[in-house]
Amino acid sequence: VILEGILTTTNLDGGPHVAPMGAIVDDAPCFDRLVLRPFQNTITLANLKRSGQAVFHVTDDVELLARAAVARLETLPAVEPAAAVEGFVLSDACRWFALRVRRLDDREPRAEIEADIVDRGRIRDFFGLNRAKHAVVEAAILATRIALAPIGEIRAEFVRLAPLVEKTGGAKERAAFEFLRQFLDQYTPEKP
Ligand SMILES: Cc1cc2nc3c(=O)[nH]c(=O)nc-3n(C[C@H](O)[C@H](O)[C@H](O)COP(=O)(O)O)c2cc1C
Repeated sequence: VILEGILTTTNLDGGPHVAPMGAIVDDAPCFDRLVLRPFQNTITLANLKRSGQAVFHVTDDVELLARAAVARLETLPAVEPAAAVEGFVLSDACRWFALRVRRLDDREPRAEIEADIVDRGRIRDFFGLNRAKHAVVEAAILATRIALAPIGEIRAEFVRLAPLVEKTGGAKERAAFEFLRQFLDQYTPEKP
C-alpha cells in the first residue's frame, strides 16, 4: 500500500527540506523498510542521493502538506534533529521513521529508493479519518500535477472536492483548500 506522508531531507546548506511523498510499505502493522519514488527533478531526490538519509512522517496536518506540495512554505515548520540519522523530525507529526537508503535506482523518470527504517517514534495521536483532510490530500496532488494534466480537469476535480471540505472540514482544512485553489487560480493563462 502507499502511505502518504511528509519527507524531510537535508539540503546542501544543512537545513531541512520538506516535501509530501508517498511511501510504498507492507500492509502490516509494523514495517521496517519502505520504498520512495521521487521524480528526477525534485530537490528530495538530489538530497537523498547526496546524504542517503531522511525522515518520513505520518501526519494529519494537511495545511503543511498542501503548502509543502507546491513549495510555498512561508516559514519552515518546527523541527528537531533526528538522533539516528542526519535529518529532521517534524515536531507536530504523529509518527516518524528515520531512514537510511539501502538501494537507489534513478534510471527511470521516477527514481526508486529502498530505505531501511533505523529509528522510529510517536509524537501524538493521528486525528482519524476525515473526508475534508483526504480531499485536501487529493487537491494537493492535483496541484503538483498542474504542469502535466489539463487545467480543466484539475479545476473540475476541485469543484468535486470543495463540498467535502465545506461539509466535513474545520478551519485548517478550509484554509488549506483555499490556499490550493488560489495557487490554481494564479496559474491560469488568464491570470499569469
Ligand atoms: C500526498 C502527496 C504525495 C506525493 N508523492 C510524491 C512522490 O511519491 N514522488 C514525487 O516525486 N512527488 C510526490 N509528490 C509531489 C511532491 O511533494 C512535490 O513535487 C514536491 O514539490 C517535491 O519536490 P521537491 O523535492 O523538489 O520539493 C506528492 C505530493 C503529495 C501532495
